[in-house]
Amino acid sequence: MNQADRDDISSNPRTASEKIGLETFIEKRLSRRGLLLGGLAMSLSACAPKLQSSPKSRSLREQDIGVTFTFPEITRGSDGTHHVPEGYVTETLIRWGDPIHNAGPAFDPLLQTASRQAMQFGYNNDFIGFVLLDEDRGLLCVNHEYTEAKDMFPKAQRGDLARVVATEINAQGASVLEIKRMNGRWSVDKNSPRNRRITGKTPMIISGPAAGHARMITPDDPTGMRSLGTLGNCAGGVTPWGTYLTAEENINYYFGGDLPEGHSEEQNHARMDVPGDDGKAWERFMPRFDLRVAPNEPNRFGWVVEIDPKDPTSTPKKRTAMGRFKHEGAETVTAPNGHVVVYMGDDQRGDYLYKFVSRDAYDPQNPDPDLLDHGTLYVARFNETRIDWLPLVWGQGPLTQANGFASQADVLISTRLAADALGATPMDRPEDVQPAGDQGRVWVMLTNNKNRSDALDASPRNAVNLANPRPKNTYGHIIEIIEPNGDYTATTSRWDFLVKCGDPNNPDHGAIWNPEISSNGWFSAPDNCAVDPSGRLWISTDGNMKTGAADGLWAMETDGHRRGLGKAFFRAPIGAEVCGPRFTPDGQTLFLAVQHPGTDDDTDYETPMTRWPDFKENHPPRPAVIAIYKKEGGVIGT
Ligand code: FEO
Ligand code: CA
Ligand code: CA
Ligand code: CA
Repeated sequence: MNQADRDDISSNPRTASEKIGLETFIEKRLSRRGLLLGGLAMSLSACAPKLQSSPKSRSLREQDIGVTFTFPEITRGSDGTHHVPEGYVTETLIRWGDPIHNAGPAFDPLLQTASRQAMQFGYNNDFIGFVLLDEDRGLLCVNHEYTEAKDMFPKAQRGDLARVVATEINAQGASVLEIKRMNGRWSVDKNSPRNRRITGKTPMIISGPAAGHARMITPDDPTGMRSLGTLGNCAGGVTPWGTYLTAEENINYYFGGDLPEGHSEEQNHARMDVPGDDGKAWERFMPRFDLRVAPNEPNRFGWVVEIDPKDPTSTPKKRTAMGRFKHEGAETVTAPNGHVVVYMGDDQRGDYLYKFVSRDAYDPQNPDPDLLDHGTLYVARFNETRIDWLPLVWGQGPLTQANGFASQADVLISTRLAADALGATPMDRPEDVQPAGDQGRVWVMLTNNKNRSDALDASPRNAVNLANPRPKNTYGHIIEIIEPNGDYTATTSRWDFLVKCGDPNNPDHGAIWNPEISSNGWFSAPDNCAVDPSGRLWISTDGNMKTGAADGLWAMETDGHRRGLGKAFFRAPIGAEVCGPRFTPDGQTLFLAVQHPGTDDDTDYETPMTRWPDFKENHPPRPAVIAIYKKEGGVIGT
């Protein structure tokens, strides 16, 4: 879409009837919220029909902190670089290929090898976690989601598949970096012994109910308890005890070969799309990725992995109690009763929303390092205003031997099949899921689902449903869950829509935003999200180009008369998605992961759309983590 078309769309005046429709929606939503949140919100809903700001109608958040987002909004568009509001600055913290230690090899795109890559920051940064060490020191925990050989290697090298594959596996996984702040600016401390690369080959412990099960045993590992590497690391979380959770998402792409005919994993692998079909050919060089050689190896991926970033000698643990699927993220919250709850999306069209509740309470004085090995995994079934969280517990309901589940390990290794059996609600690609605050609020990013259909003969997986009501759902939506009385362990919750994404001025989109939304404040394809230290929601996108504008980061109002109002804060360079929004605890720094800048299906190393972030003619664009500050210092977004 050209600029003129974009301007045309964004300047369309909203019609009176559309405005009334939106106001009616907001009124309805606010009055429903009144029921959800009790007396305080009831007073809010009573004032809602006027949709005006008055002392009585101010939301909880406005009353508490007196501010919402006050930065000057940036404009929609798309070009070769990134944009922040007036008064803000950005710095590149680290890029793909930068050495993580002083002694590491400098990036040279013509010299990339597996051994160099193992000492350098990985490719396609996604989730960012931050663990505070002291006021001016912290550990940055960064996922590297996937590799793309065509954009990483010059044409002359791409034929050397052995080199490409060996380098790719070391560009995957995660990075732990100690960062330090001087004069208000963060940098990587390349002298820190904590700096660490975790790759697709790093030794891991398989932990929890599926550890040691026969379906976890491979020719390389007769114990079923030791595996190599983590892959498809998308979003994640940080635990209350300061460890890093990295979520394994699209693990199917790395496997090749056909299962032996009639193999017992046939149905399980098919449900996870194993083997993938993107031609990586890893199985040619690493037999464990060949289903003919190691049919159980895929069962050792698709988990949430816990890493202790403070101990560079620690062995990451795959926590099987939290299930196996295409894990998008793993954001944690401690419930009032001390139990830790982890919210997780399974990012596939028609897959599910999960939460895990620890069996034991978290004791800050005496933390159990293996707390996440014991607990109950639940999957969500959405009713009109209620969610039933269905336990994935062996022996309960249909999860029995008669249906192919002989143990809890079976339930977990085949989580998707178990959730199918329970009748979970098929969702429009659940991405990041963010719990926040003591009111039990949880925001769920649903990025899109081209398969969603209102046809009478649509399959249950694809048919529109209460929580996913838009056919095709090109633009995605955001759901808000309210756990009763702030009890995140509840097995019955309430829910509502926060927004339905897309252009509010285009009736064909079916978008629903706050009626005061600007032409820059709406977006599509919500993916990652974060809350800042004030509890305010921020959303980054992956796929906003469907609307003709670059991906970015938006602030999102969630309370009072501004609820449903997006505000554009950051615009990515063309081709990039924005991941890992992460604020420092003082709110004065925002880290963003800019993933796959300048590339799409049609680009390669020689033909990127931009050479962000350094614009060197002899360098490809490089995924990078950036830090954003206020020029004069202060809290981001205010
Ligand atoms: Fe890796 Fe679902 O994004
Ligand atoms: Ca994602
Ligand atoms: Ca997040
Ligand atoms: Ca993404």
